[in-house]
Amino acid sequence: MIKINKNLLNVQQVDNFEEVSKRVNEYKINNPNNKLLNLGVGDVSKPIIKEVIDEMNKAINELGNIDTFKGYGYFYGHSFLKKKIIDEYKCFTEEEIYISDGAKTDTTNILELFDKDSLACLFNPSYPVYRDALDIMGIKYEYIDANEFNDFRPLPNKKYDIVYICSPSNPLGIAYDKDYLTKWVKYALKNNCIILYDNVYDSFIRSSNVPKTIYEIEGSKKIAIEFRSYSKKASFTGVRCSYYIIPNELIIKDVNKYWKKRVMTKFNGSDYIAQRGALATYSDKSIIKINKNIDDYLTNARYIKEELEKLNYKVYGGFDSPYLWIKNKNNMSSWNFFDLFLNELNIIVIPGIVFGTNGDNYFRVSALANKSVIYEAIERIKSYEKEN
Ligand SMILES: Cc1ncc(COP(=O)(O)O)c(C=O)c1O
Repeated sequence: MIKINKNLLNVQQVDNFEEVSKRVNEYKINNPNNKLLNLGVGDVSKPIIKEVIDEMNKAINELGNIDTFKGYGYFYGHSFLKKKIIDEYKCFTEEEIYISDGAKTDTTNILELFDKDSLACLFNPSYPVYRDALDIMGIKYEYIDANEFNDFRPLPNKKYDIVYICSPSNPLGIAYDKDYLTKWVKYALKNNCIILYDNVYDSFIRSSNVPKTIYEIEGSKKIAIEFRSYSKKASFTGVRCSYYIIPNELIIKDVNKYWKKRVMTKFNGSDYIAQRGALATYSDKSIIKINKNIDDYLTNARYIKEELEKLNYKVYGGFDSPYLWIKNKNNMSSWNFFDLFLNELNIIVIPGIVFGTNGDNYFRVSALANKSVIYEAIERIKSYEKEN
């Protein structure tokens, strides 16, 4: 009899997010006239800027002309985009850069680089996709606690082969500074551990002590693979374009020779139109517009933080990141707090438990929502707190 890959039975994230949707849908059916405000969703609320749309339109027209048509053959990405990425990092060669269709794809597919007997380390809480991808691959993992007691900056006390570090962090909303990341790089060098550095929120970094890339830390090219995406930076959540760097210096011998085989076997390259759109994000005009959009999200984050702190909520994150990690009041569990916000305030947040057991007393709010939605939500929370 045909047998299913039993590793798929462990995947939990879908169940958790389906539970959120189920509760929201039930609420909507029972209360069709109540307006729900969504502070949970990690999607952007601003459209793609005109400069990028114009470039994508040009690319579409080129595809309609046989002289400028582009087809197969660009498995690892187009040179025009890789050159911009090299300019930004001021190092690396095209061979070390892979253009792809999203950091979710990349941070999970990369596990195929490693032996199944590897031991991975995950922060608890963390982006749940890492855990599920490890489960699907059948790679074992252990958690290290990120909590208030260690300022959400855990360090390992044993040897791991792989660690996922997300900074600016989803869900914690914290961007890790140079000192903390240096400790991880030293650990990785000493223990032959590869850091999978998920840097998809890099465009939100404003603090000078927070590295824009892990490669600012000495020695990191030997042990770190960095992932970035145009999703949040340029509202590409629907367009799909990302990239990652595998340095030739990595401690895995001939790493790019082998990884190229993996890519060419399973991927025919990222969408040409999306890559042309990504190219347009590097023009001076685009940079100004994109930074303004990100600043608006950061202003939302600051506003949420300030207002909730006035109401005696304990709020973490919200600097250099669109996320806020907020402690539930009265020690309530995640799902109870989620229900309270849904039923009493008609506001959707993400229950912290979705990101790991250490999230059970927390909820995640996203500042990527529209300013008007955020202001209305804060007013609702203020009146609720006044009455209760
Ligand atoms: C930490 C983290 N990594 C990766 C992703 C996926 O990004 P992409 O849209 O590039 O697949 C997200 C999306 O929310 C994320 O929060």
